[in-house]
Amino acid sequence: MNTNRLSSRMQEALIKQMTKEAHASQIFLSYGCWADVKGYGGIANFLYRHSQEERNHMIKFMRYILDRGGEARVEAIPAPPENPQNLTDAFNKVFEHEVDNTTAIYEIVNLSFEEKDWATWNFMQWFVKEQIEEEKLALELIDKLKIAGGDRATDESLFSLDKALEAAPDDVSLPQEATAENPS
Ligand code: FEO
Repeated sequence: MNTNRLSSRMQEALIKQMTKEAHASQIFLSYGCWADVKGYGGIANFLYRHSQEERNHMIKFMRYILDRGGEARVEAIPAPPENPQNLTDAFNKVFEHEVDNTTAIYEIVNLSFEEKDWATWNFMQWFVKEQIEEEKLALELIDKLKIAGGDRATDESLFSLDKALEAAPDDVSLPQEATAENPS
């Protein structure tokens, strides 16, 4: 009797996503080290926390594959890319990685739709929502740096930005939560 509730194509897609989340975790860890070396302890802390979130995402995919009677597999992950050139480059890259991950999430949603695998479709909706949050978080990083002066930011404004990111919450609110009284 086949007790695996995932098609082999879907199982492979979910394993690939496990690896992608692990890779994202390593990328943010590596960017965190870079920021730490540059003296931006708060930004490094923010990136380390984000790295942990990505690791949690990997675990969610692993758990889902196993709970559906599938076989999860831990694969090799590529080395992180080269260090960013500067803070603008770092934050732009964080945003690009998130958009790239959203594309991968959408591909799995498309496959679940194609296969009428509604359990996976339902599971994936959490990630669709999570990506809205993560892209927003990355956009906020870019905005905060622009306000601080971008590549021409003074040491003082970078010091404040670094402090702000150390204390920044990991979650952002979703557009569905906005009201007329509290539109932000
Ligand atoms: Fe796991 Fe940043 O998405």
